[in-house]
Amino acid sequence: MHLVAPSLLAADFLHLEDACRLVNESKADWFHLDVMDGRFVPNISYGMSIIEQIRTVAQKPCDVHLMIEEPGRYVADFKAAGADHITVHWEACPHLHRNIQQIKSLGITAGVAINPATPVDFLTSILPELDLVLIMSVNPGFGGQTFISHTFQKIRKLRKMIHDLGLHTHIEVDGGISVENAGPIVQAGADVLVAGSTVFHAPDPVAAIAKLKSV
Ligand code: DX5
Ligand code: ZN
Repeated sequence: MHLVAPSLLAADFLHLEDACRLVNESKADWFHLDVMDGRFVPNISYGMSIIEQIRTVAQKPCDVHLMIEEPGRYVADFKAAGADHITVHWEACPHLHRNIQQIKSLGITAGVAINPATPVDFLTSILPELDLVLIMSVNPGFGGQTFISHTFQKIRKLRKMIHDLGLHTHIEVDGGISVENAGPIVQAGADVLVAGSTVFHAPDPVAAIAKLKSV
């Protein structure tokens, strides 16, 4: 069964506590928390102090997606704020292996995200070290964008790489996921679906999460 990780980026920031309670009461598996620095991506979201506050209400694992330069400078702070899992971007990490070891040495799980133009083949050497690969299906920085269809090929190829190596790495897909495309994304081999707008812009977010779980 695949997992669903609602992204709080699309929630009403004036009522984040309500959004967290809604996720707690839903069929969602994880909280997906998007951190943007205005450098790696052309947008700024929120940082560790907000995550620390979210953690006081959130009753499910917090999956932190760092869209920032030099993430190694901050991973210990995000762990201290309550991250259960940290994903860094391949494109932001010239010393990726070191950054992954850094995250794992904090006693939490580690993932690598790749942008739409980054091939899955670039992950061959690091794959055995990873708990999760996040395939971006939009260019990172903003919610509400359209799913890039080339992502399907990347998911299928990565699923085969993981299978051939005998690994159990999660494949998380992030960006433009809707109730309509969620089924084909899971069939292609994804096992974690991130959804922002589809959940929080829906008239009934709990029902939207249930639909994403049941595809
Ligand atoms: C985008 C973020 C996503 C974003 C997805 O850079 O990484 O997690 O919240 O939003 P939707 O689901 O609206 O595309
Ligand atoms: Zn994300």
